[in-house]
Amino acid sequence: MSHITAKDRLIVALDMPTLEEAGRLVATLDGSVTFYKVGLELLFSGGLELAHALKANGKHVFLDMKLLDIGNTVERAVANAAEFGADFLTVHGHDLKTLRAAVTGRGGGHLKLLAVTVLTNLTPDDLVQQGTSMSPSDLVLRRAQIARESGFDGVIASGQEAGRIRDAVGPGFLIVTPGIRLTGSATDDQERVTTPGHAIAAGADYIVVGRPITQADDPKAIAETFIHHIRDAHAQAARNHAG
Ligand code: C5P
Repeated sequence: MSHITAKDRLIVALDMPTLEEAGRLVATLDGSVTFYKVGLELLFSGGLELAHALKANGKHVFLDMKLLDIGNTVERAVANAAEFGADFLTVHGHDLKTLRAAVTGRGGGHLKLLAVTVLTNLTPDDLVQQGTSMSPSDLVLRRAQIARESGFDGVIASGQEAGRIRDAVGPGFLIVTPGIRLTGSATDDQERVTTPGHAIAAGADYIVVGRPITQADDPKAIAETFIHHIRDAHAQAARNHAG
């Protein structure tokens, strides 16, 4: 993954209520940010239209649709997302059958499929409530292994689990990490948060940042700070590797 620049490893989540606000943010971040995530909030207020425009302007687009349905439906939805020209697409990574259907739908194209392991706002108590006695970390690992087996390109996982996943699946499998905060900043509703430096050091390939940038007084300056931390963490990892 070393050919990917620090700038390209920052994915800004466009979690905004209107197309106008999202468009303004993209204009503000121009020159600093190359990768945007369109998720469920913006989907219903013109998100796909914006995604098309971003692609036309040479940006990378992550459609965070978190698909979960019967295999046939997932397969056809993924085929259309591949046709759309998205770079990344998420599917909930609960079972091998659904993930394999997604891989079939993707075909041989450029779209990268990422499995959502365990949402970063869930605590061990939340998992008990869902009927599982596994810890978030063990469940993430199991789902990462299923995703790898299915032919997925990678997973979404918190920085707290990235290290275990990297050790288990080795290089060449993408780890995309949300729940990222700068030291000392608000965690909002996220539970399993890490700093950008920690996530990259633990093996994350990309970090996803929403509110710390979208709600900042100076989003471009904060985006540059995140990119700076990513670059530093990579330089440190390279030094560790060399020495
Ligand atoms: O605002 P914040 O930085 O917390 O946003 C994180 C983004 O990452 C949100 O768009 C959220 O939907 C997404 N995400 C997440 N946890 C996952 C998968 C996606 O927080 N496991």
